[in-house]
Amino acid sequence: MSTAPLELSLTRPDDWHLHLRDGAAMQSVLPYTARQFGRAIVMPNLRPPITTAAQAAAYRERILAALPEGSDFQPLMTLYLTDNTPVDEIKRAKEAGAVALKLYPAGATTNSDAGVTDIRKTYKTLEAMQREGLLLLVHGEVTDPEIDVFDREAVFIDRVMQPLRRDMPELKVVFEHITTQEAAAYVASADAYTAATLTPQHLLYNRNAIFMGGLRPHYYCLPVLKREQHRLALLAAATSGSTKFFLGTDSAPHASVMKENSVCGAGCFTALSALELYAEAFESVGALDKLEAFASFNGPAFYGLTRNSGRVTLRKQDWTLPESVAFGDAQLKPLRGGEALGWQLLP
Ligand code: DOR
Ligand code: ZN
Repeated sequence: MSTAPLELSLTRPDDWHLHLRDGAAMQSVLPYTARQFGRAIVMPNLRPPITTAAQAAAYRERILAALPEGSDFQPLMTLYLTDNTPVDEIKRAKEAGAVALKLYPAGATTNSDAGVTDIRKTYKTLEAMQREGLLLLVHGEVTDPEIDVFDREAVFIDRVMQPLRRDMPELKVVFEHITTQEAAAYVASADAYTAATLTPQHLLYNRNAIFMGGLRPHYYCLPVLKREQHRLALLAAATSGSTKFFLGTDSAPHASVMKENSVCGAGCFTALSALELYAEAFESVGALDKLEAFASFNGPAFYGLTRNSGRVTLRKQDWTLPESVAFGDAQLKPLRGGEALGWQLLP
């Protein structure tokens, strides 16, 4: 007999790492996140990227205008850090209500061409962020072509994270979407200025998922899924009770024609069923009692924000995720689209 509760009530959670895109594509995916979460950290990797406070403020207005009637969802804005982000931009970003800057090593992932080529070039700007209390969100992979794709996160810790922490000790840093036991151990043993987000796919799947029965593009994201030992370490970190780990879906919609292509864009679309997927992962290790802190408490605490006041309810019942949903003029396939899920968020 199952010992799982029939319903799970949580303080309304937030998504601390989300890709919303823009225009009609954003209009299609935003309602899914607004239904599940009170707030979300919105990634700035548009084309062109959001590099200024003014662009972030305008993007925020477009998101608010696209929200469903009556929604009180709040987008939390980020700027895309470049080699040339002016020190003065940090004050403007703060005044415009932005909460963080995102570090993409140049060429690491989708729309990262304008990213940072050498973190030392950004040190004056990082010092300003440290002073103003803006966070640095890190895509933690080196881009050195000599380094195997599966090792890029672990090497990033040695080459970038450790020097960065030493040189900028009071900058709050989120190691985003961690995928390895090395990163989980690094964050767990770091001081209170370092935290990490975890995606549902990295808690539920190892790299076999990409290859099972043929190449499965909807399981391809960056950093790429790793071996089972890493998945287990991430799940242990997420359910450990440590306040350093919190929810960040990295839901990253790409039209199915782009995913099912000779060159497949990186990203898993999970916004439609994010909480359900996390519940499945936590339940798999008997840790549903740890889900609320991970989803709703640890993120706001690290960002210095208050918790949301509302609540959401997950019920243990089967339902089938749509195979495909509209994405502007195109179609979008959710991770696990067409398959059954065992938890469902109540309306
Ligand atoms: O899989 C990913 N997709 N990883 C990223 O870092 C970027 C994201 C996207 O924007 O599609
Ligand atoms: Zn991302």
